Amino acid sequence: MKDLAVLILAAGKGTRMISRRAKVLHKVCGVPMVSLVCRAAAALQPGDVIVVVGQDGDLVRKSLKEYGARFVDQAEQLGTGHAMITARAEFEGLAGNLLVLYGDTPRIKPDTLRMLVDRHRHSGAATTLLTTRVANPYGYGRIIRNGKGQIAAIVEEKDASPAQRSITEINPGLYCFQIRPLVASLEGLSNRNVQGEYYLTDVIAIQREAGLQIEGVIHEDSEELQGINTRAELAEADRALRMRKNRQLMAAGVTMIDPESTYVDLDVELERDVTLYPQVILQGSTFIGEGATIHSGARITDSRISAEALILNCSQIADSVVGAGSSVGPFARIRDRSVVGEGCRVGNFVELKKTSLGDRSKAAHHAYLGDATIGCDVNIGAGVITCNYDGVRKHATIIEDGAFIGTDSQLVAPVRIGRNAYVAAGSCITADVPEGALAIARERQVVKADWVKRRAKTESP
Ligand code: UD1
Ligand code: CA
Repeated sequence: MKDLAVLILAAGKGTRMISRRAKVLHKVCGVPMVSLVCRAAAALQPGDVIVVVGQDGDLVRKSLKEYGARFVDQAEQLGTGHAMITARAEFEGLAGNLLVLYGDTPRIKPDTLRMLVDRHRHSGAATTLLTTRVANPYGYGRIIRNGKGQIAAIVEEKDASPAQRSITEINPGLYCFQIRPLVASLEGLSNRNVQGEYYLTDVIAIQREAGLQIEGVIHEDSEELQGINTRAELAEADRALRMRKNRQLMAAGVTMIDPESTYVDLDVELERDVTLYPQVILQGSTFIGEGATIHSGARITDSRISAEALILNCSQIADSVVGAGSSVGPFARIRDRSVVGEGCRVGNFVELKKTSLGDRSKAAHHAYLGDATIGCDVNIGAGVITCNYDGVRKHATIIEDGAFIGTDSQLVAPVRIGRNAYVAAGSCITADVPEGALAIARERQVVKADWVKRRAKTESP
């Protein structure tokens, strides 16, 4: 839609969130609210996307970098009308229409925006806005209709009379404006109201009084248009979008034992025949391949889990890859760009940090493997530790294909264990072990025969 520009207002602090962070950066299902709004608008392929930023402006810019938006700084936030005036230079020269959205409406769907723009085009109105009815209109601007049933004005909660407050048709804050009359109407805004702010909503009364055509489109699904002002509303939106995502995933062939308690961020991808147990958390840009199973309490962030992998209870995986058919956990931790190959086993209480484990290798219990490059078909015994930190620097451990590291060994890095070499249980390895060798690095055992009997004699009175 080349004759359409989108303007998103996202400068406000969001006082009611009680937060150090700007409201629009708070995440819903892992994605900042303002990104969700921008994403819905981007689906219409508008010619221009303009975003008004203020509080945490740099972070808001960063969270929108993939949308090719232009940004306008509103240093002081004097209201939504003031935000429009601040951005005016960015749109006043454009022909066509301006879709104005607020950055705190994360549930909005592209189809709804498309419908609003289509209705606006067909009616030829100066302004078309969505309205909706809610049981509890508290906090929203109320839609005031005249004797002919036309929208005459929007009155904000704080400025409304008791009679106006009882109106349940509200302004969700989604408008499509013809640009030319809008620019003229902005001249008429003032801040003579209870909040001392410039209200964008006053444009409606200004245009009605000027005899311009204003269309309202009543949208049935008021929840989709919900504006988020508080943490409680944030949690409601999160839950709603999560359930929307879970339904899509189930429709695409994912099994969820209990969708109500399954937490999948919006940008996570799952293939068919994945099974998710209750209380699984999948975050960020995670991908889960076909047939993989994730047990309860697992939390997987920005990671790739390949087909047929099995992630057992309470494992935490971040920024890492698990290969096809591998099993991880219970209680494993894999992080910092670790890579687990195919057919591997990473068992209980094993931690991998910046470590790669080749195909079919196993670390079945209680190990710490950090900054290690481990080949294929390696066996890491219980309790093996890579001593990768000397107090100043991190050092690498290399374990080549087919090596066997005996139980409870320490590998003091930097160190290399050659192909097919063995390290005896309980060794403290401080030097490289060549290919095919056996290294034993522990005290020899001393056995003192009949020691107990002899002690008893010397100790008797
Ligand atoms: C606004 C509407 C109200 C509507 C409600 C829907 C006005 C005057 N009121 O009220 O009619 O029912 O949204 O949710 O428009 N912002 C700026 N700069 C500012 C002020 C706000 O960019 O100076 C941005 C905020 O970041 C936010 C959006 O505009 O994303 C809406 O601001 P907010 O303060 O939440 O408006 P409401 O009081 O909810
Ligand atoms: Ca709001």
